[in-house]
Amino acid sequence: MKIKVMTVFGTRPEGIKMAPIIKVMEKVDEIENVICVTAQHREMLDQVLNLFKIEPHYDLNIFKPGQTLTEITVRALQGLEAVIEKERPDILLVQGDTTTVFSGALAAFYQRVKIGHVEAGLRSGNLYSPYPEEANRKLTGILADFHFAPTQTNKDNLLKEGYPEEKIFITGNTVIDALKYAVKEDFMFNDPLLNSIDYGRERVILLTSHRRENIGRPMENIFAAVGDIAKKYDNVSVVFPIHLNPKVREIARRVFENNRKVHLIEPLDYEPFTNLMAKCHLVVTDSGGLQEEAPSLGKPVLVVREETERPEGIEAGTARLVGTRYEDIYSSLDLLLSNDEEYNKMANAVNPYGDGRASERIVDIILKHVR
Ligand code: UD1
Ligand code: UDP
Repeated sequence: MKIKVMTVFGTRPEGIKMAPIIKVMEKVDEIENVICVTAQHREMLDQVLNLFKIEPHYDLNIFKPGQTLTEITVRALQGLEAVIEKERPDILLVQGDTTTVFSGALAAFYQRVKIGHVEAGLRSGNLYSPYPEEANRKLTGILADFHFAPTQTNKDNLLKEGYPEEKIFITGNTVIDALKYAVKEDFMFNDPLLNSIDYGRERVILLTSHRRENIGRPMENIFAAVGDIAKKYDNVSVVFPIHLNPKVREIARRVFENNRKVHLIEPLDYEPFTNLMAKCHLVVTDSGGLQEEAPSLGKPVLVVREETERPEGIEAGTARLVGTRYEDIYSSLDLLLSNDEEYNKMANAVNPYGDGRASERIVDIILKHVR
């Protein structure tokens, strides 16, 4: 009898980080793959499914514009109940810290199905930042049977919370597996704007921001500082693929109005996005995934948040936690753009998040320990 592994995911980052595991499992005879997407995101998830050629067996299609956390939780939990009841998987895999992850784990727990938590043990130490992700991952940890921790720090976090060592496995982060798949030396963009940039001369700041706790004043500060610094330097411009959240879009349009140095574009597919990161000068972000990808591409990252659950990039020297005050962001950017020594100190390619083989390790552990 094959081991039946059900993967559940719903947002762009979960898709990117689950895809390499699905791809490895597709090649393993002893595993039956059952893929269920909640579609907490719609367009942004579909981009990922297309790129990795993943055809879900179940699509709960729960997405509604302006969805609240309660609505996502309820719709995912109800949809998953029927799917889990029908499939009775040997293990259900969830990835990360979204509302889909917590709902997936809870739905499995209610039916006494084993749970594997991919990207376990990340902690910021503040339940409200990132909100609600810190709570989602802690709640998922309580329910999980297997904790796939990307780093030693993540494992230590779990040990401190009393989780038994034999349930924790250090695997690396599957985002690095996905990155290896996507970044190519000779990549050409479809977007004429991105193709027209001379990346040797023009210094491109790649900006992304979507965190709930930044919406409002913090996000206005971030955008104003980035927009103003681009005006200060002739050969500096900004590319911002804006998250589909209308609240983020409204702030971006308002703050960047009439700023010709800032290119606001639609969310990019993962392949062009990571290749743009490989060509840009530096990254300003509140994203989790970007904090992991940028160091491995040798790009300095200014993390525009008050705390991070990813201290490894900071310890390695490629990431800096700059907060969300205008002055702090502006002066950190000014330093990096005017001082080559400061820039070069941060622009080292390091790989604290894995070697690109995390998915293989996770699948090996499943083969060895499930059933
Ligand atoms: C969610 C996750 C967050 C993750 C992020 C990645 C939760 C609570 N949050 O936040 O952990 O970092 O995804 O992007 O699970 N929208 C669309 N189309 C899409 C996706 C989003 O229109 O394909 C718009 C909708 O208006 C939606 C809004 O964005 O209401 C917010 O989406 P939601 O999933 O609620 O939260 P995110 O901020 O995307
Ligand atoms: N990403 C993408 N297109 C974009 C912006 C981001 O494919 O326009 C990818 C990025 O490479 C990373 C992931 O999406 O792997 C990060 O997603 P996001 O920042 O939305 O979520 P987080 O990582 O903060 O949960």
